[in-house]
Amino acid sequence: MMNGKKILLDVDPGIDDAVALMMALFDPQLEVVAVTAVGGNVPPDQATRNVQAIIEQLDPPRWPRIGRASMPEMGLPTRNVQLHGPDGLGNANFQVSELQHRHASEKVICDEVRAAPGEVTIVALGPLTNLARALARDPGLVSLVGQIVIMGGTLSGSGNITPAAEFNIYCDPESARAVFRCAATKTLVPIDITSQVAFGYDLLDNLPSETSRAGRFLRRVLPFLFRSYRQELGYEDIRLNDATALVAALHAELFDVELAAADVELSGELTTGATVFDRRRIREWRTNVAVATKVDVAAVRDTILRGIAAAGEASEDAK
Ligand code: RIB
Ligand code: CA
Repeated sequence: MMNGKKILLDVDPGIDDAVALMMALFDPQLEVVAVTAVGGNVPPDQATRNVQAIIEQLDPPRWPRIGRASMPEMGLPTRNVQLHGPDGLGNANFQVSELQHRHASEKVICDEVRAAPGEVTIVALGPLTNLARALARDPGLVSLVGQIVIMGGTLSGSGNITPAAEFNIYCDPESARAVFRCAATKTLVPIDITSQVAFGYDLLDNLPSETSRAGRFLRRVLPFLFRSYRQELGYEDIRLNDATALVAALHAELFDVELAAADVELSGELTTGATVFDRRRIREWRTNVAVATKVDVAAVRDTILRGIAAAGEASEDAK
């Protein structure tokens, strides 16, 4: 939709990134101005390839600009192949057309925010490498971006990639600190919150029809996630963390948020990538982020299911 709410998705696909991206691409209320790839679940080049593969497979009404991911200065400490598969998309091994030349993700972010001052919501669903680089490249961005919604960090619970850290922050803590400290309006949706929204095996029985691009796409990527959540984590259901964070960007009323003073541990044998909040009675750190503290689980799950169904309806094969 050309005059819908403008969003830019920064993703490290990742199956949950792919579901969030699919929901956004077929949401008639949204204009996805760009999808910028970032390394995280998979290395940067694979992330860029996966963004193109997802868009080619889904063939949405309007194709967004694609940004090319590149390696963070400090490299990537880990991947997430256990959950998402070696290719990041459940071993679907999608074919992609020749990889066209793409601008760097951070340039695409700067261009799109400057093209629509105050209008673009950036939804960051991977490590914050691109966002930090865009802010460094164009410091004026902080006053031009609408808002930044980040899937990442822990509020008070356990990390997922280490006992102390959530994956997106852990992958590039220096960039996360830079984004947390910037003056833009930021909402953090931590893993404690997103992991409350679970989907059982019945989701696989209620996917959009195979006569739709969305239905065929989900059948190729989702089963792997159910298997990996069972085999790697011992769960009988899955979390679509990034889809939940997208809902936080579109339906803030389904979340409680609190203003917080947050920072990121950069180097600790056990604590690198931990999100640290100043909760002292006399707080000394400046508040810099609104952090989600509660979620209407049933409403968010229903919103995601409706988004998946709408993607199916909108991508039905021509009769
Ligand atoms: O910790 C969960 C986050 O890490 C999600 O964004 C998932 O896709 C991975 O990037
Ligand atoms: Ca992600």
